[in-house]
Order: sequence, then C-alpha cells, then structure tokens
Amino acid sequence: MTEVKDKQWWKEAVAYQVYPRSFNDSNNDGIGDLRGLIEKLDYLKDLGIDVIWLSPMYASPNDDNGYDISDYHAIMKEFGTMEDFDELLEKVHDKGMKLILDLVVNHTSDEHPWFIESRSSLDNPKRDWYFWADPKEDGSEPNNWESIFNGSTWEFDEKTGQYYFHLFSKKQPDLNWENPEVRQAVIDMMNWWFDKGIDGFRVDAITHVKKTFEMGDLSIPEDKKYAPVYDAATNQPGLQDWLQQVKDESLSKYDIMTVGEANGVNPYNADEWVGRKNGKFNMIFQFEHLGLWNTGESQFDVQSYKNVLNRWQKELENTGWNALFIENHDQPRRVSTWGNDDKYWYESATSHAAVYFLQQGTPFIYQGQEIGMTNFPFTSIEQFNDVSVKNEYRIVKEDGGDTEALLEKHRMENRDNSRTPMQWNNSAYAGFSEVDPWFPVNPNYTEINVEQQEADPNSILQFYKDLIQLKKSDDIYTYGEFNLVDAENSKVFAYTRTLGDKKVLIVGNLTDETAKLNTSLDVQFDNIKLHNYDTEINLSEIKPFETFVISL
Ligand code: NOJ
Repeated sequence: MTEVKDKQWWKEAVAYQVYPRSFNDSNNDGIGDLRGLIEKLDYLKDLGIDVIWLSPMYASPNDDNGYDISDYHAIMKEFGTMEDFDELLEKVHDKGMKLILDLVVNHTSDEHPWFIESRSSLDNPKRDWYFWADPKEDGSEPNNWESIFNGSTWEFDEKTGQYYFHLFSKKQPDLNWENPEVRQAVIDMMNWWFDKGIDGFRVDAITHVKKTFEMGDLSIPEDKKYAPVYDAATNQPGLQDWLQQVKDESLSKYDIMTVGEANGVNPYNADEWVGRKNGKFNMIFQFEHLGLWNTGESQFDVQSYKNVLNRWQKELENTGWNALFIENHDQPRRVSTWGNDDKYWYESATSHAAVYFLQQGTPFIYQGQEIGMTNFPFTSIEQFNDVSVKNEYRIVKEDGGDTEALLEKHRMENRDNSRTPMQWNNSAYAGFSEVDPWFPVNPNYTEINVEQQEADPNSILQFYKDLIQLKKSDDIYTYGEFNLVDAENSKVFAYTRTLGDKKVLIVGNLTDETAKLNTSLDVQFDNIKLHNYDTEINLSEIKPFETFVISL
C-alpha cells in the first residue's frame, strides 16, 4: 500500500448540491422545503453522497431565491422552521453524512435590519455598514459601474439623497467589509452556525467582497450603458487580509469543509485561496471551464476544456485542492449544452460525468444531474424567473429593444434551466409536489425521473452510483497523480491517475463522432472498471460519447 500524505475527509467526499426551492415539497405549497429534503436523505445516502451543500435556506424576500438574506439566524418561512433545520442536521449526521450551508456575505437583502437601519439616516451608526455615495453633480450615479445582474450598481435612495451600491440586484446591497464591525458581525454569525454543528460553508461571491472605488468611472463598451466591473470588484488587493481574519477567527477553529465561489481566480493565483499553507479555503469553485456569465456558447470546445482543467490539476498538484463540478444552480444543464440531450442523452451525460468526476479534487453533483435532467424548453421570455434576466428584459423593453432576441440569447444558457423542480417520478408535477409548483416542471419528467431510473440497471442514475463507488473503492481516484493522455486530441479527454505502482486510465469521447486515442500506454482490456457501452473497447474507434475506466 502506498502511504498517502495529507489525507482529509473532505478530499475523499462526494458532495451533492440541493437547491431547496426545487428539490422536494413536503407540504404541497408548490415550493420545496427542509422537510422535503429530510424525506430524501435515504435517496442521497443510497446514491453514495457524503456531503450535502444546501443553497440558502435563510429568511429572505426571495428577490434572488434566497441569495438575498434578511435574517442569517432564521429559516425562510416557505422552507420551514429552525426546528426543521435542527432535525435535518441531526438526521444528516445520523446517516453518516455532512451538511454545508451557503454563506452569502458580499451582500444582504435590503430587508435585512442592518440595511433598514443603515438607510434610515445619514448619521445612523450602521450607515457605514453599506456603501453610500453622493450623486454626481448632474444627479447621476456616483460612477458608471454595471451590476452583474444588469443596469447600474447604484440605486438612489430618496430619503437621504444618496445612492447605495449593489453588485447584484438592487435588493442585494453590498456589505462594507472595510468596516471592522461588519467583519466581526460576519464572523460571529459564522461561528454561531459552526457551534450549532454544521460542517462547513460554500462561500458565495467571495472574490467580489472588496471593491476599489478609487478607480472611478471605467470604460464602457460600445453597445453598453454601464461599464463591466470585474477590474474594480474582483480579487482586489487587501481582500486576502480580510479572509485571513475570517480564517483565524472562525474557519481554523473547526473541523469543517469550505469551498469558496471564486469567479476570477486563475490557477496561478490560487495559492492564496487554496494553498495548503496560505489558502483560506479548502477548495474553490473556479469558472474558467464554464465561461460563467457568458451567454450563447455555440459548440463545446473539448480542447479548451482540457487545457483549462489540466492547468488547474497541474498547478494545484501537491499544493492545493480542486472542487470539481460541471453544473450548479447558475448553470444550464450540461447534457443539453455540452452533450446531446436527444440522440446521445445517456452517452453524453455519462461521458461528461466520468471525465470531470475522476480528476483530482472533490466532486460535486447538482440535483438532477445524476438523472440527466435537461434544459427547459422556454418559448417566451416571460417564463423566466431569474432576476438577472428579468432586469435585462425590463431594460431592453424600456429602451425599445428586441425582447424576442433576448429569448434566443438566454434560452440555452440561462440560470432557470437548472432550477426546474426535481423529477422524482412520472406522477403529476413529477412527484415534486401535489400542486402546481413555483416553476414549471420540465415536460420530459414522464421519461426522465428517479423512479424510472432506479428500476433500470442501465440508467444514468446507476452510472453515477457506480462512478461514486468506483471513486471510493481505491485511494488512487482521490489522491492519485493526474496526467493527460494524448493532450492534443480534440475529441477525447483522456488521463491517467497514478498512485505508487498503480495506474488507471480514464477516457471520455466528448463528441458525437467516432474518435481515436493515441497513446503509448500498454492498455489491456481485462480490468475495465466502468464503461457506458456494452460493446468491446477499441482505442482506434471510440464511439460517440463513449467513456471507460481501465485499471492498467
Ligand atoms: C452566486 C450565486 O451562486 C448566485 O446564485 C447568486 O445570484 C449570486 N452569487 C449573488 O448572491
């Protein structure tokens, strides 16, 4: 046995993201809830899940489905009570799993008491807990920065005659972390949840917490009214000092798992984020492989995907740790965008699964991904729920623009695609609820659902179960060294994992064409660990979206 250094439970875990609003509705009000999740814990356990990441379940007016929090110490009414939460946590632990929550502290809701106080007067003691600024001389916004959710980052407040800053929606004012009282309040709140027994946090939008307002007006692209704000509000100097404080006064005191949402971080500056010594978090979600916030990706580019992920694998080797994911509540369904949800639905869902899942890092599965849920067939822009699209729609409409073109722009890539109710069975509303849910169920629930796939030994669900068991069967899948094979192959993503004298080969054709793998490895086919076709493997003729794992 090869001795592995620096073993950690969170490196060996398989995580599953629950978007509670759309997971399971226990009280039939059309909205998923905590008791609904409790009902499905055995399902998650049976799938092989170790860690559940629960998207925000705190009190919220739901401008951004819970990412706008009005009370960090209370549960959203639609989701249940604190007693329900306590029971959930206890049951998760009883079943040998862990629960991590979403820490949303770049901003609060405008209905949070801190903000209500802050906006009440110019000299309120909490005025400086948020960013307030005077209008320019002509009365316009203090600068020309654009919100990530479209429009200006500034909203005028009649009462005090100043503007407040919001990187996301106007109901999500940004907290001013420059103020030590704010940092203390955040840290106290985190410790309150840790003392309750939660097992960690996914940390929302954390690269945006520091802004460099001194940069003033930025340059506006020709087709825009406001200036994209990344240069002034992503990964700014000084941010790491605040995170160090959070680590010292909270994170380092507990045996927990942390994953930062780190848009804008690249592998070369990853050390301060996830480095063994310098890192503030165990791992981060990076977005280089997704093109986050980009709309209208046309064709999936296998070569770029490989290059990006290879860079992360090699840069973090022996120094940090990756979080592996292809879907979440902000991303469309990958089987529809990267795969082929028609002719190669099973093959493309499973090939993409094996390829990302067996790299070095902690894999995350987003609810429904494990049954190959697909994008929603949007037919009109009015169907969207996402605040970001709704803002854009309003702006385009006000400017007399082409709202129909917006539908085309967002149909494949918008965030609502992944927020449709979970498809449990083929009864009305997919077994998610007994009433019409808050967002329509994808009409394909009669064919794509958990119950049907549980009964089918060749289902995507069964493939995920096998994949998870395989990952857990040997340290090589967690700790083994990653090396690309046939790096320039533009169709096939292939790599080895090596631990001591053991080696496994993971291959996935990520196209709908036949492909060939060029390798000098001596590949014997007597120890195939996983395969999504029931035919013989031929390295010179790898079938569309064929994937396999072979022990060498
Ligand atoms: C990132 C979250 O994943 C997204 O859903 C949310 O809208 C923004 N942060 C703002 O909290």
